[in-house]
Amino acid sequence: VWDSPVFDEHEQVCLFSDAPTGLKCIVAIHSTRLGPACGGTRFRPYQSDREALDDALRLSRAMSYKSALAGLPVGGGKSVIIGDPRAIKNRALLHAYGRCINRIGASFATGEDVGMSVADVETVAEVSPYIAGTSANSGDPSIPTAIGVMHGLRAVVKWRFDQDGFHGMRVAVQGLGAVGRGVAERLHAEGAQLIVADIREDAVAAAVEQLGARAVPVSDIHRADADVFAPCALGGVITEASAREIRARAVAGAANNQLADALAGQILAERGILFAPDYVLNAGGIISGMQALNTIPGREEAKVPPLEESLAAIHDRLMRIFARADAQGKTPAEAAEQLARDIIGRGR
Ligand code: NAI
Repeated sequence: VWDSPVFDEHEQVCLFSDAPTGLKCIVAIHSTRLGPACGGTRFRPYQSDREALDDALRLSRAMSYKSALAGLPVGGGKSVIIGDPRAIKNRALLHAYGRCINRIGASFATGEDVGMSVADVETVAEVSPYIAGTSANSGDPSIPTAIGVMHGLRAVVKWRFDQDGFHGMRVAVQGLGAVGRGVAERLHAEGAQLIVADIREDAVAAAVEQLGARAVPVSDIHRADADVFAPCALGGVITEASAREIRARAVAGAANNQLADALAGQILAERGILFAPDYVLNAGGIISGMQALNTIPGREEAKVPPLEESLAAIHDRLMRIFARADAQGKTPAEAAEQLARDIIGRGR
């Protein structure tokens, strides 16, 4: 662990457990240079503690990049709770979790992520002020996330196909959860043709019936005959192997950490497939969460621009990253990472 470059970059990593409730969680604080580390709480049945740690570390670094590029006065962090939420999540465990993050104090703030609902966030908020995304403040982040992803997709379609809007575009959406379904609905409303896959048959059936989507097996969605592949399920879906199979000319979606590694990104670039860095597209959740952060003790100095304006800015930011990548002979992922590191390096 100590040798991992991702671990090395972190300011702090905390491990918590609470035997009475079975809580085991990891909070990774990548950077507080721009402000308190912010990032959601993911609740998953990880195969191993090591897998959970790696996920927390990679996600918290991505949060640093995401907030830096979005111009937010916060740093990057992430929390993962280890276990099957359907089996162990209950009020006592969520309260124990809230007490854990209270021990970190004002250098970390969290919210919803995969496996955590708005109701769960509200339960944690009963004991902790360091959690946003309750219906009393910013609400469900998946809605602004989906809106932000749409702004990003619009930039992708413009850059790659020189087309304004989605009319006739074939978009393959992987994952029809909170964000993926929101993206699919908006794409449908704007004239796109949808190809979808999800492990949840009910979600697929609803998209077929209500959005005129074509369903494909989960194993085939990445190689669907589409213009854009939009990963909106979990991370790591673009591997060396899948990168070689993608038929779309652009990859852009909501899922965090879509590239399993740098090689996968290189293969996409070699094949002329435009990759939109996920942490640029999916910043809507943290952008909306920031609207509530001002109310948290010690954070009154945070200045947050209006939500709609901040979400719309994702379009232009992505266009600038594509242009910069082209000018520098880099991939968009490399250009975005360098830009984010420069911003973090300059500090507050
Ligand atoms: P969610 O849990 O509501 O939806 C995920 C969906 O993916 C579920 O419907 C699930 O059945 C499906 N899925 C799981 N494995 C799959 C597979 N192998 N193939 C196809 N579908 C599969 O999660 P949510 O909130 O929609 O988030 C989706 C992604 O977007 C995650 O990677 C998350 O980290 C990222 N994200 C979410 C944000 C938010 O505000 N909710 C903010 C930024 C990023």
